[in-house]
Amino acid sequence: MSKKILVVKSSPNGANSHSNKLVDLLVSKFKDATVVTRDVSKGLPLVTSNMIAGFYSDPSTHNDVIKNELKVPNEVVQEFLNADVYVIGVPMYNFGIPAALKSWIDLVVRAGVTFGFSGPGQYQGLVHGKKAYLVLATGGAPIGSDYDLASSYLKQILGFMGISDVEVHGVAGTNIPDVVEKVTKKAELEIEALTV
Ligand SMILES: Cc1cc2nc3c(=O)[nH]c(=O)nc-3n(C[C@H](O)[C@H](O)[C@H](O)COP(=O)(O)O)c2cc1C
Repeated sequence: MSKKILVVKSSPNGANSHSNKLVDLLVSKFKDATVVTRDVSKGLPLVTSNMIAGFYSDPSTHNDVIKNELKVPNEVVQEFLNADVYVIGVPMYNFGIPAALKSWIDLVVRAGVTFGFSGPGQYQGLVHGKKAYLVLATGGAPIGSDYDLASSYLKQILGFMGISDVEVHGVAGTNIPDVVEKVTKKAELEIEALTV
């Protein structure tokens, strides 16, 4: 059966972005897949008090303001649930993820939808049977090192929702002129060699 891929791009650099280019390369490996792309660098709403009220109440009680503010969050979370595979492009910003990607996470990690409670203070992921690929680009910080709070955070939050099958790929050193070509080629070869 053909897979449904949700591609999440978060670099504002469009076609010049290292993470976007590697994401495209990885996605091209999937044959006959249905691909939906969410470029979060174009902007998503930040969580509002009306959204919070809506997240934690019965939809039949929502007034028009709440309904309106929940439109994008509902679309984003539905898009997330519809996918079998996630390919997430991650430019490292200040050792973590860009704010745009965090705004997407704040809409996707939703009580009763992508995670639930199994007891007081105990959580359980509600998203099962999915796989995620993280595709990082860093100016210099090594991927998987102690500096890399981006992939460690994303693995943690995906795992929280039940997604533990997470592969990390990418390029480290895009801001180092002497190595950028070599490390980019290495990342491309690594992705080209993947069996998806
Ligand atoms: C605001 C900002 C913060 C950054 N912070 C880091 C950082 O903490 N560590 C690092 O290695 N590179 C950092 N960089 C460099 C980017 O990770 C690098 O340019 C990367 O290639 C960006 O991804 P992109 O090419 O997909 O846009 C930063 C770049 C920007 C614009």
